[in-house]
Amino acid sequence: MAKPRSFYYCSECGCQSSSWLGRCPECGSFNTMQQEVVEVPKTGSAPSKGSDTQPKLIHEVTYSQQSRIVTDCNEFNRVLGGGIVPGSIILLGGEPGIGKSTLLLQTALSIPGRRILYVSGEESEQQIKMRADRLSENSNNSQCYVVTETSTSKILDHVRDLKPEILIIDSIQTVNSETIDSSAGSISQIRECTTEFQRYAKENGIPVILVGHITKDGTLAGPKVMEHIVDCVLQFEGDRNYGFRILRSLKNRFGSTAELGIFEMEGSGLREVANPSEYLLSQRDETLSGAAIAATLEGARPMFIEVQSLVSSAVYGTPQRNANGFDFKRLSMLLAVLEKRCGFKLGAKDVFLNIAGGMKVNDPAIDLAVVCSILSSNIDMPISPKYCFAAEMGLSGEVRPVTHVEQRISEASRLGFEKIFVSNYNLKGLDRKRFNIQIVGISIIEEAFRKLFSE
Ligand code: TYD
Ligand code: MG
Repeated sequence: MAKPRSFYYCSECGCQSSSWLGRCPECGSFNTMQQEVVEVPKTGSAPSKGSDTQPKLIHEVTYSQQSRIVTDCNEFNRVLGGGIVPGSIILLGGEPGIGKSTLLLQTALSIPGRRILYVSGEESEQQIKMRADRLSENSNNSQCYVVTETSTSKILDHVRDLKPEILIIDSIQTVNSETIDSSAGSISQIRECTTEFQRYAKENGIPVILVGHITKDGTLAGPKVMEHIVDCVLQFEGDRNYGFRILRSLKNRFGSTAELGIFEMEGSGLREVANPSEYLLSQRDETLSGAAIAATLEGARPMFIEVQSLVSSAVYGTPQRNANGFDFKRLSMLLAVLEKRCGFKLGAKDVFLNIAGGMKVNDPAIDLAVVCSILSSNIDMPISPKYCFAAEMGLSGEVRPVTHVEQRISEASRLGFEKIFVSNYNLKGLDRKRFNIQIVGISIIEEAFRKLFSE
């Protein structure tokens, strides 16, 4: 029989020690040694007598097609790849207050006829009920059980009694296992509790959804190994000052990570947003300069986003630059390109950039819209709200092609845009007649300037 012993591991470098140390002898980090219980095999035990497992040819492996649990929330199903796979373990991360508990409770209440256990270590049963009443009028019809509990063994006891079809743990940082002598939320606790739930999920074929906190720098709190253990890692994000929320899949063993779920937080919970572009473009005034619309792609989903710029004379010696929702360094680079290659004198101007709706965009196809909105504000001439842009900018002022251009163009035409500006390189092999929209190809940035403001 293996003997359990506890060791201390550094959460930074993994260095092992038999006693606690304030400073890791390997990497020199302070206060990173965490206790972990490990089973030490007895020395001198008999060699293993062969294995029960047998390698098989892949086409001989059989499996039964398990049907996914489809929730009432289409956006949630879409991100998971079509529903919850039985026996899978899903981790949902996000900043505090972004709506993780709301999303899961709302989903739990909306699955008809399925027995669900919602375990909360953060809220009391009364608080959950109050929230449930706000979220759904017919919460009394659902088969959702709630319990406030933080011990994994007690949670699993409840699960054995109740036999739920879905188990939700809110959150993994608040539960603790008796086998480990460290406080809830520590690295070894999180790893142990995740493993216990994973074992339960796999043995019983019941999906487990874990809520996870994220740290200040936006990564999931807890050991990286937790992300390896779980089948899906979902991230719920958005700006808390706006209602717009995005559910992203960072890892999915049963579907594509390109899928995206979009929600809006309202007084009565989260509402699915089937067409995000219409939501993002609704508050547009035709007569204002400094606004341009970018045809971006988030994962596999086209999203049309308004970029707003304000260029004004710098009052102080050093001009100010500020970017909301857009990479600040990239803005500096685009300004340098405009300054150096195209002769637009922006060095003595303050530039403020804002992506409407509190969105954060990483798609390089937004570059052209950013540049055009800056130019528009600089000369105080508006760009028609019927135009949109999808191209990347190069360092020499050249307009570069982007991926999935056909998808962007067809979405632009569906949304009723009249013109889309893309790179000339994207036009090669493109069947323009297929689209009911004027496609303008450009090669360098001055060409865009001419076409927008001089023609
Ligand atoms: P919550 O789900 O508690 O966030 P998390 O579990 O991620 O920490 O939700 C948080 C915010 O959502 C809260 O600040 C209030 C807001 N909210 C609404 O606007 N409408 C609602 O119906 C609910 C339930 C919450
Ligand atoms: Mg919560």
